[in-house]
Amino acid sequence: MARVPVVFTVNGTEAAEFVEPGAMLSDVLRDKLDLTGTRVGCSQGTCGACTVMIDGELILSCLTPAQRVNGKSVVTIEGVATNGELDPIQQAFATGFATQCGFCTSGMIVAAKALLDANPDPSRDEVVDAISGNICRCTGYEPIINAILSAAAERRVAKSA
Ligand code: FES
Ligand code: FES
Repeated sequence: MARVPVVFTVNGTEAAEFVEPGAMLSDVLRDKLDLTGTRVGCSQGTCGACTVMIDGELILSCLTPAQRVNGKSVVTIEGVATNGELDPIQQAFATGFATQCGFCTSGMIVAAKALLDANPDPSRDEVVDAISGNICRCTGYEPIINAILSAAAERRVAKSA
C-alpha cells in the first residue's frame, strides 16, 4: 500500500515522514525519529507507557494513527527537559526513588507535566487521578505521587522567584 506523508512538530522541531497508512504515532516516534523514550507496553491502550502530548492534550501514541498528527505539535519525554536542564518533575522522580525499572516513567512524567501545566497546585487526589491511566508494576505509586507533589511545589517556587 502506498505510504502517506505526515508532517508535524515534535519537541519543537519539524518532522516529515512517509508512513504506512496504518502506522501508529508510537511507531513513527520510535522507529523513524529515534525518540525511543516513548515506551510501548501493551499496544492496547491500557498501560499508559506510550503517553505523549498532542497540542497540550495527553494521548496514547500506541492507539493514535500517525496521520492524525499532521500539522500538530507533539511533545514526548525527550521534550520535557529545557535547554538540557531536567524539569523539576524529572528531578523529583530521580531523587524521590519514583523510578525502578523505568518502563512506566516516560508516560508518568508526561502525564505529570500535563497536570502541572494545567494545575500548578494539585491535591493528592488530583495527582492520583492524573496518573490513573498509567500503570506501574514496581513502585507502589507512593513515590511517584510524592515526586509529582514535590515537583509541583518546586515549580511554584521557581515561578514566584
Ligand atoms: S503501549 Fe499504549 S497504552 Fe500501553
Ligand atoms: S518503575 Fe517499573 S513499571 Fe514503573
